Amino acid sequence: MKKGRTAFVCQSCGYRSVKWMGRCPSCGEWNAFLEEPEAERQVFRVERESKLLPVDAWEEERYERTSTGYENLDRALGGGLVKGQVCLIAGEPGIGKSTLLLQVCGKTAKDGKVLYVSGEESGGQIAMRARRLGIKSENLLIYPEVVLEKVEQAVRSVKPSLLVLDSVQTVFSEKLESSAGSVSQVREVAYRITELCKELNVPAFIVGQITKEGSIAGPKVLEHIVDAVLQFEGERFTYYRVLKVVKNRFGSTGEIAVFKMGERGLEPVPEPSAFFISERAQAPGSVVFPHAEGSKPVLLEVQSLVIPALYTTPQRRTQGYDPNRLSLLLAVLEKEAKLFTRDADVFVNVAGGMEVKEPAADLAVAVAVVSSKKEKQVPPDTVVFGEVGLAGEVRAVHFAEQRLKEAGRFGFKRAVVPAGTEAPPELGIELLPVSHVSEALELLF
Ligand code: TYD
Ligand code: MG
Repeated sequence: MKKGRTAFVCQSCGYRSVKWMGRCPSCGEWNAFLEEPEAERQVFRVERESKLLPVDAWEEERYERTSTGYENLDRALGGGLVKGQVCLIAGEPGIGKSTLLLQVCGKTAKDGKVLYVSGEESGGQIAMRARRLGIKSENLLIYPEVVLEKVEQAVRSVKPSLLVLDSVQTVFSEKLESSAGSVSQVREVAYRITELCKELNVPAFIVGQITKEGSIAGPKVLEHIVDAVLQFEGERFTYYRVLKVVKNRFGSTGEIAVFKMGERGLEPVPEPSAFFISERAQAPGSVVFPHAEGSKPVLLEVQSLVIPALYTTPQRRTQGYDPNRLSLLLAVLEKEAKLFTRDADVFVNVAGGMEVKEPAADLAVAVAVVSSKKEKQVPPDTVVFGEVGLAGEVRAVHFAEQRLKEAGRFGFKRAVVPAGTEAPPELGIELLPVSHVSEALELLF
């Protein structure tokens, strides 16, 4: 590296600076600056001619989709992979990204050549896994390679019907000086693979390892380049895995596909709701919440445990729910419902390892907390949803009807919902509309 020709680059968003900084002024990430050679700007560029036409003159885009071999994954993607679409699969090491993609390759290799490029594992290791998973195909080509230029050559000569790149952090371009995994390299690799896939009309999955802090190397840069971002989540030591669509140019976000990790790899779970509430604790502190970030709701069990505080500073711990949101709800419960938890430890857990980010879960969490505190069970045939505002008011949420439909499908008879929520009578669910959190508590306890 020629000295004196370096820049400091934020490894999260790619922001460049002449000096090191503790916090990135662009994306706010701490401790993200690394020194990289100054010449490391994107080497590769494409020139394209664009047409300038009135809106009516444009023909509607028609996506040609191909199946991944997994119905739930196809549905989450909006009906399968679009030709030339590049999907980033992000997840922690050991979560099952390589396993899932090898299985997808095994399924799709029935219809054409599939190229699996691995910079992480040797050909022998992948073959071992394939045999264990019962995957056998002449069409499935494994290429253990880390040099981007060679990968590009291979893609051009094979012209596969699906490409897998495992992982974007291990592959590097020889045209750049910085090491594999740096933000410049990750961006270059993702950009060039994406351009190549568009040119050849090849759909691709790119694996992105998530660091311990929970971010992909160069996550923001990567997200902009690819067409879709799928987050692979789940507890490492349990068997369920949730694939969540967090970005999709060819479909909606929030869609999920659930899998189960077993001896023979990942198995799709066709009815996630049944799966998530199957081991439900019918006890105080447990509430069923119809979760809907995407168009397909899933029933989840929200659990809470409220016990006398162990230390002077009471604990608030959550799993799958934002702890700040919990603190806020506890404050609202105190002010608006005279329910005091200031001398109690409060735990909230979304069973099944799902992360719930939507505010529609507020009312269910509040009810779970009160249920545990009062040691009174919520009727087992009842689901709860609604956003809770700072004054204790319960606000309407989207996808209300779909949520109720899912609850009805699983035999639930009553639903505590925001006032104004409507549902067709054929769902067979009695609505209990509430406009304030205290109303919900009065109704249930
Ligand atoms: P892997 O797919 O390599 O994860 P990633 O690519 O995300 O790092 O490994 C997933 C884990 O799953 C690994 O710890 C071993 C386990 N596993 C099974 O339980 N059953 C199986 O059939 C396979 C192939 C792996
Ligand atoms: Mg892997």
